[in-house]
Amino acid sequence: MKVLLIGSGGREHALAWKLAKSPKLSKLYAAPGNPGIADHAELVPLDIDDHAAVATFCLETAIDLVVVGPEAPLVAGLADRLRASGIATFGPSAAAAQLEGSKGFTKDLCARYEIPTGAYRRFTDAAEAKAYVREQGAPIVVKADGLAAGKGVTVAMQLDEALAAIDDCFDGAFGSAGAEVVVEAYLDGEEASFFCLSDGRTALALATAQDHKRVGDGDTGPNTGGMGAYSPAPVMTPGMVARTMKEIIEPTIRGMAESGHPFTGVFFAGLMITAKGPELIEYNVRFGDPECQVLMMRLKSDLLDLLHAAATETLDQVSAEWSDDVALTVVMASKGYPGAYDKNTPIAHLPESADGEKIFHAGTALKDGALVATGGRVLNATATARTVADAQARAYGLVDRVEWENGFCRRDIGWQAVARERN
Ligand code: AMP
Ligand code: GLY
Repeated sequence: MKVLLIGSGGREHALAWKLAKSPKLSKLYAAPGNPGIADHAELVPLDIDDHAAVATFCLETAIDLVVVGPEAPLVAGLADRLRASGIATFGPSAAAAQLEGSKGFTKDLCARYEIPTGAYRRFTDAAEAKAYVREQGAPIVVKADGLAAGKGVTVAMQLDEALAAIDDCFDGAFGSAGAEVVVEAYLDGEEASFFCLSDGRTALALATAQDHKRVGDGDTGPNTGGMGAYSPAPVMTPGMVARTMKEIIEPTIRGMAESGHPFTGVFFAGLMITAKGPELIEYNVRFGDPECQVLMMRLKSDLLDLLHAAATETLDQVSAEWSDDVALTVVMASKGYPGAYDKNTPIAHLPESADGEKIFHAGTALKDGALVATGGRVLNATATARTVADAQARAYGLVDRVEWENGFCRRDIGWQAVARERN
C-alpha cells in the first residue's frame, strides 16, 4: 500500500516510524514532514491547505490511504475533499471534527445522549455569562468555544478569575474562537487520556495515556501542548475502560452516525475520573502529541492495518495488541516555550537509541545540512521498560545525551505514576 501522511510533528514522526514497520507498506510519503520523518518517508512539498492539490497528488501517485495527523486540516475539510475523490482517508469530516472544533457542539451531543460530563451553559453575551458564573460560584471552568491552541480554558478557583476569563474571550483574546463561551462545572478527580478508533459504526479501543500540560516541574507554570506523557494511565483500570466505552464512546459513535456525520478516525477523549466514574472533559479528533509517541512504542499490531480498517469501515475485522511495558516520553523544548523562543538554534548531537528507545523529531529542520530547532517543542526522548521508574530513567538517559544548548525539559515526567509504584 502507498500511504501519504499529513503533518510535521512528533506525533507524525511516531506514526511514520510505526507505519514503516508494516510489511504491507510499499511506499510512505509525508507532507510537509520533518527530518525525523524523512528517515521513513519521501517528503513531498505539498501545500496541505490546498486540498485540491493534495487530492491531485494522491490520484496521480495512486495513494491507497491518507493519514491526517493534526486537527487543523480536518476542521478545514481535507478529509471530505479526499473522500469525495474516492481516496481512503483516516480522519473525520469537517462536520465530525466539530467534536474538537466546537466545545458547545460536543456538550450538546453529551446532553442528547446522556454522556457523563460537567453541567454547562453556552453564551454569546458577556453579561449573561457573568450572571450565570456569579449564580454558580467558584470553582468553575470558562472555555472559549472554538480552537484556541489549548489556551482557551480557564479553570477558575476564584470568581474573579472566571469573570476576567469571560471578558478575555469576548474581548477577542482568542479571536473568533471566543465569540461563544461555554461555562462548565468544575470536575474533581484524576485526568486520563483514552484513545479509540472508529470507522463510523464500530469502535476499537486502543490504549490510555497521561499527559503533563504545564511547562514546569511539579505541574506548575503556563499550559503547553504537552511536555511529556506515559502509557498506560494507571487510573484507567480494565473496568474503567469498559465503562468509558459503554458510557462515553459508544453513544458518541451512535450520536454522530444518527446526526448524519459518522466519525472516522481516532477519538482522543480527555477524561476526568471522578468519584462517579469517567466523565468527558473534551474530545480531540486526532492522536495526542506527545501521547501518540508513547502509544506507538507500545503497539504490537500493524498500525497500517488498523488505520486502513478505520478508513474503510472494516474495523470489526481487526484487533490491537499492546505491550505490557510502560512507555514514557520527555519533550525537549526551546528555552522560552510556551512564550517566545529563538529559532534555528543548532542541535549538535543526537544519541544512538537502543531497542525500546527512540528520539522523535517535532520542530526540527535541516539548514545547510545541519540539524536545527525551529519549533517550540523540538524532540521527544522516548523509552519503554517494565516500570514507570525504569522507563523514566531510560528516557532521561537519552535526554542527557542530546547536545542542544537552547533546549530544556521537565525533569519529573511520570512523577505521579512513579510515586504510585513506590506505594
Ligand atoms: P480542555 O482544553 O477542555 O481539555 O481543558 C484543558 C484542561 O483544563 C484539562 O486538561 C483539565 O485539566 C482542565 N479542565 C477542563 N475542563 C475541566 C472541568 N470541567 N473541571 C476541571 N478541570 C477541567
Ligand atoms: N498533548 C495534548 C494534545 O495533543 O492535545
